[in-house]
Amino acid sequence: MQILTTKQALQQALAESHQCQKTVGLVPTMGALHEGHATLVRRAVAENDICVVSVFVNPTQFNNREDLLKYPRNLERDAELLSRIGADFVFAPTPEEMYSAEEMNTTFQFDFAGLDQVMEGKMRPGHFNGVVQVVSRLFYLVQPARAYFGEKDFQQLAIIHHMVERSSLAGTFGKLQIIDCPIVREPSGLALSSRNERLSAAERETALAISRTLFASLEWAKSASVQEVQQRVIDAINAVDGLEVEYYEIVDQSTLLPADSFSHAIGCVTVYCGPVRLIDNIKYE
Ligand code: PAF
Repeated sequence: MQILTTKQALQQALAESHQCQKTVGLVPTMGALHEGHATLVRRAVAENDICVVSVFVNPTQFNNREDLLKYPRNLERDAELLSRIGADFVFAPTPEEMYSAEEMNTTFQFDFAGLDQVMEGKMRPGHFNGVVQVVSRLFYLVQPARAYFGEKDFQQLAIIHHMVERSSLAGTFGKLQIIDCPIVREPSGLALSSRNERLSAAERETALAISRTLFASLEWAKSASVQEVQQRVIDAINAVDGLEVEYYEIVDQSTLLPADSFSHAIGCVTVYCGPVRLIDNIKYE
């Protein structure tokens, strides 16, 4: 496995693979890798001739400087894991390599047909512009046949699908296929996240109430309305000492607009567990 830190080295390394029509799978990450990422990478290794994993804490998608500074980083440990799984290339650029000073400070504006106006987009203005800025750049650099994303960030995935299939950028990434990968959970139910590293042992225990409540809501949905279930989830999580719901919304899986029935619906939650902001979701289908 090779670790590459410049765009030029990455493109040179992949040139031969592209010439020989080898398929390239890309797993974009911000590092601090866990079993959830490992699952994506294993799949990318199995389904493509070449597997590229990017490890880049993208500054343009953070609207809170402290969150950016506190984001866990450990390239050495990440590289060890990726090498064991069989990734071919790790792309780990600096922010200066990825962006010019102007790009770093300009707010990119993409049109997401309203998908960015709800939930995470409403709470973190500009976040999805930053995500699309870096993901589209990675797609141009790597020219992957497939790119793998986890469903824990469901809204991000919806926006990336929109970018590739329906936005003004659609068609510019060749025959790129976006592969949705299910949430990976600890046996306790906690959704795996790099942010879990910041939880104390006691907070980790407290956080279990999030997934427990989401799973319980599948039962509640059998005999209550969308609004009732939504409120019951919020109340149940807020009743736990140390947890505070930022939002819980049951929305249509395609439009992300408020659902009026449970058909094709998903509940997306963001909860503060002490200082750590955790997200999770559950499909009602
Ligand atoms: O989901 C993430 O880790 C990031 O948002 C991504 C897709 C790697 C872009 O920085």
